[in-house]
Amino acid sequence: MIKRIVLSCFTFLLVSTMLSGESVRQQITLERNWKFTRGDFPEAINPGFSDANWETVSIPHDWAIYGPFNEEHDLQIVAVEQNYEIIPTRKTGRTGGLPYMGVGWYRTSFDVDGFIKGEQRVNILFDGAMSEAQVFINGAKVGFWPYGYNSFHFDITEYLNDDGKNNVMAVRLENQEFSSRWYPGAGLYRNVHLIVTNEVHVPVWGTFITTPHVTKEFASVKLVTELNNAENGQNVRVNTKIYDRWGRMVASQETNQMFFEDRPYEQHFLINEPELWTPESPRLYEAVSRIYYREELVDIYTTRFGVRDIKFVPEKGFFLNGQRRKFQGVNNHHDLGPLGAAVNIAALRRQLVLLKDMGVDAIRTAHNMPTPELVELCDEMGFMVIVESFDEWDRAKVKNGYHRFFDEWAEKDLVNMIRNFRNNPSVIMWSIGNEVPTQCSPDGYRVAKFLQDICHREDPTRPVNCGMDRVSCVLDNGFAALIDIPGLNYRTHRYLETYERLPQRFVLGSETGSTVSSRGVYKFPPEIKINAIYDDHQSSSYDLEYCSWSNLPDEDFALADDYEWTMGQFVWTGFDYLGEPTPYDTDAWPSRSSLFGIIDLAFIPKDRFYLYRSVWNREDATLHILPHWNWEGREGEITPVFVYTNYPSAELFLNGKSQGFRTKNDSTLQHRYRLMWMDVKYEPGELKVVAYDEAGRAVAEEKMVTAGRAHRIELIPDRTIIDADGKDLSYINVRVVDRYGNLVPTDSRLIRFDTSGAGKYRASANGDPSSLELFHKPQMSLFNGQLTAIVQSGNQPGTIVFEAKAPGVRNARIEIQVK
Ligand code: GAL
Repeated sequence: MIKRIVLSCFTFLLVSTMLSGESVRQQITLERNWKFTRGDFPEAINPGFSDANWETVSIPHDWAIYGPFNEEHDLQIVAVEQNYEIIPTRKTGRTGGLPYMGVGWYRTSFDVDGFIKGEQRVNILFDGAMSEAQVFINGAKVGFWPYGYNSFHFDITEYLNDDGKNNVMAVRLENQEFSSRWYPGAGLYRNVHLIVTNEVHVPVWGTFITTPHVTKEFASVKLVTELNNAENGQNVRVNTKIYDRWGRMVASQETNQMFFEDRPYEQHFLINEPELWTPESPRLYEAVSRIYYREELVDIYTTRFGVRDIKFVPEKGFFLNGQRRKFQGVNNHHDLGPLGAAVNIAALRRQLVLLKDMGVDAIRTAHNMPTPELVELCDEMGFMVIVESFDEWDRAKVKNGYHRFFDEWAEKDLVNMIRNFRNNPSVIMWSIGNEVPTQCSPDGYRVAKFLQDICHREDPTRPVNCGMDRVSCVLDNGFAALIDIPGLNYRTHRYLETYERLPQRFVLGSETGSTVSSRGVYKFPPEIKINAIYDDHQSSSYDLEYCSWSNLPDEDFALADDYEWTMGQFVWTGFDYLGEPTPYDTDAWPSRSSLFGIIDLAFIPKDRFYLYRSVWNREDATLHILPHWNWEGREGEITPVFVYTNYPSAELFLNGKSQGFRTKNDSTLQHRYRLMWMDVKYEPGELKVVAYDEAGRAVAEEKMVTAGRAHRIELIPDRTIIDADGKDLSYINVRVVDRYGNLVPTDSRLIRFDTSGAGKYRASANGDPSSLELFHKPQMSLFNGQLTAIVQSGNQPGTIVFEAKAPGVRNARIEIQVK
């Protein structure tokens, strides 16, 4: 008899919907009523242990993001080889100055109602746990998974209580100090799911769908389905229907075949006139498979996929559905600024909305496996993804890094990564590593081959990439020649040579830019500078400052524009992240987060956003003036003005006086991509830019004025209606403006928040990479006139009232609807 699965769990919210009452598989996300403590409590594995005085938390949870910041946290005295350092120095803020290190425990309990051993299987799936996770059920250890970024799962059926009730799960996590080069987060920072199935079932990640042949007229689709616990020789019927985004069935297949444990079920389909997946139109399909075993329905498994064709062609680069395109990509670390590493879909979506507007079409998940929610959003919103695995292999970059686990775990980690994401159409390649020191070992290629072969075995449809920075090594020792898609990190001056020497005949910019800037900060005179350091721990937003190993954006644009064999780029980085505050990383406390982002830690675009947008977003016009125009004390001094625009020419006026007409030209790389007026003498008033198209017609204008005295607070939410799911977020831009509504770009007053009604205050950030203010406190100082406050919905519909107050200016209040 096939059991109907009923699961009642007091710790969860039901996320997966069942198909028309056929209750054969349930996925339940364990979000609520977890208990948490820092410190080591080995006796917490026992069901009878009292955790009454532990903190009650919901998952995803990042134990370290609440601070406090302290330069002693994970203070690393090291020489960073990748940055050409030889002598060890004090690396303050390298991992964000947050207390992520040490041991932490989580506990929860759950029921599987009507559970009968032998008729059901229960798996526990962690989307990621930071780190060295040991999982215990009812006092027994069910498994260990060291790598904090990967998804892993265990079959826990045998460990459950016979009646399925009051099962106690305890998870011990431990983060070593000196184990990271950035803020890794801490704890159960990604979701945890219970998956309850019948005894005979499709295992976790048990399908693999590919589209071997894609044309506009038709596409072939191949679906491979695995089955667990069936008896050899028994008949199994797999009935699969494919639905388009309107819910129309576009193909179906029924396979009736004897089961053999080493032979998965293979089905082939044809979809006529398929809607192809592209970043611009990310169309998705669903394959719903019903599995009948001994003529009873035992499982229903849904595989979401896209129809698309990827090709990598020597000399010509990357083709999607037959069309060549160059990656307009960014690298991102996984933290969500003030939310830390704790996954939140609304925050991820907010990031992608901003990147979309900039014209980004691709993301590299530096330097580890992403959370599944990010990849699903990329499927839905249209971003191509390089899923990356490791920042080190067998040789160390940091003392307690992944090299400790590499030999035993690398294959398991790659297998899980690929099975997890092989059905996501957004994923276009796997990366086996980033700047791994192994690249320079004489037999480093063997390790690369070992990893690349695993990827090919697990997924023959996607190529493998590796981000390399030691160009001479990898060209000489054969390492680069082996990688399907060779990626260079920076070293733009060696692209041509790399292309000429490599058999693949193309080069990907796996990391580019690493230009540094602070939103709203401008240094005079604007000059191209390497490793520029200032007393205020900021970098200039004239976007001319970079690191000794890196370069300015203009160079990467030119490489993409000038050579067919360049495949485009992934900028370091889309968003600022916690940790790695280069160039303020050596004895430079309180710097604690990066300056590389095109968008700051508060999710507010820097000027650089508009530079990329002017080249990458071909749909919308960009006409952006910098710097701000409040320079009291600089009257009469040269204060250059830059304009980032997709128009070829423009004329600039200051208080009605022309400052000259500029046209993009090839005299320097900066002149090719920016319009610059280097001799403007500051006087307060109005800057106006009038843009001209190719035909010489004035087609657009934009103004920047000197703001008057701070008058009031203004609140601009990204969304005024959010979902009553207890998780949704509204990002509120908080700014101080003059009486006419102009941003006061120099204001840094402290703003206090009051949140009431159908939600709560969640966090705020101001984008200052050297601020030690805590994100979860309901107050924050403005950084150059702005900050972001985040409110979170409750579970009931209603209204959130958010108020912002500060002395000397009018307060502000807005309402966010929770529905
Ligand atoms: C690269 C490295 C990144 C980041 C970046 C900063 O070498 O792969 O993780 O450190 O430099 O420029």
